[in-house]
Amino acid sequence: MKNETPLNIALIGFGTVGSGVARILATQAETLSIKAGRPINLRRVVVRDASKSREYLPAGISVSTDVADVVNDPEIQLVVQLVGGIDPAHEYMKSFLAAGKDVVTANKALIYQHGESLFQLAATNGRTIGFEAAVAGGIPIISAVTQALAGNRILSIEGILNGTSNFILTQMLDHEQTYEDVLKEAQALGYAEADPAMDVDGTDAAQKLSILTELAFATRVPLESIVRQGIDCLELLDLQVAQELGYKIKLLATSRLHGERLEVSVQPTLIRGDRTIAQIDGADNIVAVEGDAVGMTTFSGAGAGQLPTASAVVADIVDYATGRTQLTFQSILRSLKQPSVSIQPQEELSRRYYLRFTVDDRAHVLADIADILGRHEISISSVRQDESSESSSGTARLVIMTHHTTEGSLRGADAELKKLACIQGQSIRLPVAD
Ligand SMILES: NC(=O)c1ccc[n+]([C@@H]2O[C@H](COP(=O)([O-])OP(=O)(O)OC[C@H]3O[C@@H](n4cnc5c(N)ncnc54)[C@H](OP(=O)(O)O)[C@@H]3O)[C@@H](O)[C@H]2O)c1
Repeated sequence: MKNETPLNIALIGFGTVGSGVARILATQAETLSIKAGRPINLRRVVVRDASKSREYLPAGISVSTDVADVVNDPEIQLVVQLVGGIDPAHEYMKSFLAAGKDVVTANKALIYQHGESLFQLAATNGRTIGFEAAVAGGIPIISAVTQALAGNRILSIEGILNGTSNFILTQMLDHEQTYEDVLKEAQALGYAEADPAMDVDGTDAAQKLSILTELAFATRVPLESIVRQGIDCLELLDLQVAQELGYKIKLLATSRLHGERLEVSVQPTLIRGDRTIAQIDGADNIVAVEGDAVGMTTFSGAGAGQLPTASAVVADIVDYATGRTQLTFQSILRSLKQPSVSIQPQEELSRRYYLRFTVDDRAHVLADIADILGRHEISISSVRQDESSESSSGTARLVIMTHHTTEGSLRGADAELKKLACIQGQSIRLPVAD
């Protein structure tokens, strides 16, 4: 039955995502009011600069720069907060919850850093927080993990959670470009921020993985406990060699139970070319969730962008209007209270590895490296030397694929390899997900 009393909402932030939300609310008003059971009325907008002209801003709406206008408006029940960063987004969110308003947000950094205390504040005030858009943009992975897969013990979550990195890796390989050139292009196209550090060094993906891990395994994993490596260490040669060996390199985010312990990592990883994850190209995201009952499920699509992200925000608004959020948020709070699992020490992670060295192009180099690896019980599966690279400088690229070994053994070997005079510059090691 349809209720004619509208749900009054406020939008804090009218940038990329905020204007996308306003656009969907305007263009789908009739359908949304049927799905929501009542009309959704955008009553107020708060931005930093109220004088900017804005597309999709409803005529006659109140636009201000003061969140107090929303806090003090008793007609507003739900605040959709689409301001990025921690300050002042954190203070804003606390003031809305304290004023008895429910909140929807797409701010992953805020949920990662202050989710625990904000959830607690919401619970204390009998309020809710919707955050579907905070992880993997348009892909409904929060509701999949917290609701649709509730019948499962989740065994693993694996995916590509940063579209910028995936775009860069795809462009490098497809167009034989260097990392630096593609990054510039990605910035020009708006796929990468002016400061892309959080995207390319794995921080953004690690924050998203941490949120998913907490929901799936009731275990809070701070960034320091996540084995984290960015794509900024990669060269075109790495992507090409991997491809010749039958792999794609992707920035892979992994939370996986090994017995009662959890492996949590974000690393450029060699993934067999025939696996679905390896085939996700461009700015898209993918999340594969394995449950003990359902087996493997995969969710892929646009992990960012105006309308895909707004799609998830609007779904949260509709869920709130129907009363679903009030039920699911309680269920999330109860799940988070389950016993947590311990994190597997980084040294114990056992995988195959891809090692790439720049070495002097002379005899005995391979023997010296193999000797050190052997003494750390790292056994070599294959070796490949790229003769064409850097030949004028008297160096060559050496790629070694290992058999299964531990991160601890490799760290031990690293310390000795660093002392070898024949190794030049930065070496890299990447895990292989067979
Ligand atoms: N863009 C995406 O594809 C995407 C995907 C997933 C999640 N998200 C998340 O969604 C959130 C919004 O992202 P966005 O891309 O839409 O950002 P954006 O385009 O930079 O827009 C931010 C909006 O917030 C407003 N704002 C900034 N500081 C403010 C303040 N102190 N008080 C009031 N308003 C303020 C800005 O006002 P002015 O317009 O006046 O400057 C602007 O309208 C972020 O947390 C982001 O991580 C974005």
